[in-house]
Amino acid sequence: MNELKAPHIREAADYILQRSSLRPEIGLIMGSGLGILGDHMENAVTIPYREIPHFPISTVEGHAGELMIGTLSGRPSVLMRGRFHMYEGYGPELTSFPVRVMKALGVRTLVVTNAAGGINTGYEPGDLMLISDHINLTGRNPLVGPNDGELGARFPDMSEAYSRRLRELARETARKMGFELREGVYIGVLGPSYETPAEIRMMRTLGADAVGMSTVAEVIAARHSGIEVLGISCISNMASGILDQPLSHQEVIETTERVKSRFLGLVTALATLL
Ligand code: HPA
Repeated sequence: MNELKAPHIREAADYILQRSSLRPEIGLIMGSGLGILGDHMENAVTIPYREIPHFPISTVEGHAGELMIGTLSGRPSVLMRGRFHMYEGYGPELTSFPVRVMKALGVRTLVVTNAAGGINTGYEPGDLMLISDHINLTGRNPLVGPNDGELGARFPDMSEAYSRRLRELARETARKMGFELREGVYIGVLGPSYETPAEIRMMRTLGADAVGMSTVAEVIAARHSGIEVLGISCISNMASGILDQPLSHQEVIETTERVKSRFLGLVTALATLL
């Protein structure tokens, strides 16, 4: 149940605001290997998670575990380098705590990115997919427990979890940069084991195009908070059973590495428009 309450969120936000004079409007949560977006930030202040009151600490390889406040394409932004996953043992409310803090900092738009396995057989590793919607298959929800009406509604609407307006902007921006984005449904699972081929067939039947172990809890908390969301997945591998080869974290890292500059270029260009 939700142990983190409004005073904890306030305390974390106050600490961050004391370290930077910027008031971020855009929040960015970058998946494995993409935290390097921080290198494109100007006037940045870096704060390790361990220094922020009530912040969890991420344990997965390839995640730095620090918050950066700075400007991205001139827009005041806050970037999470490394996120919290439920498979690390964090509850959904801890996983999405940074989103609550972003809201308290003044963030109105959240960009979430992740690595995901391609379920849609028309996809290829290296494709970037706009998330049009999600299916929460984690069995968890960050809003379970008493609702704080100051934070959001008891039964928040999820009918446009991933903003249509922002998707249109992203599509146009990618086109101007000379590439097309895929667009599809992200199915969020708990992990950390990869799926079985039977599970992937089930997910395809359910209408999913890509699968991953993050994002859904963060996006539920963001929508509860009234934050507009843009989600982009990097298809880092084909999901289990599609190709005659085992899945590995190494493949995920290598594909992300390969498309990193395109991915970061897109997010940087988008920042001016959000
Ligand atoms: N499954 C689940 N999560 C993932 C995958 C996958 O195939 N690839 C990257 N994250």
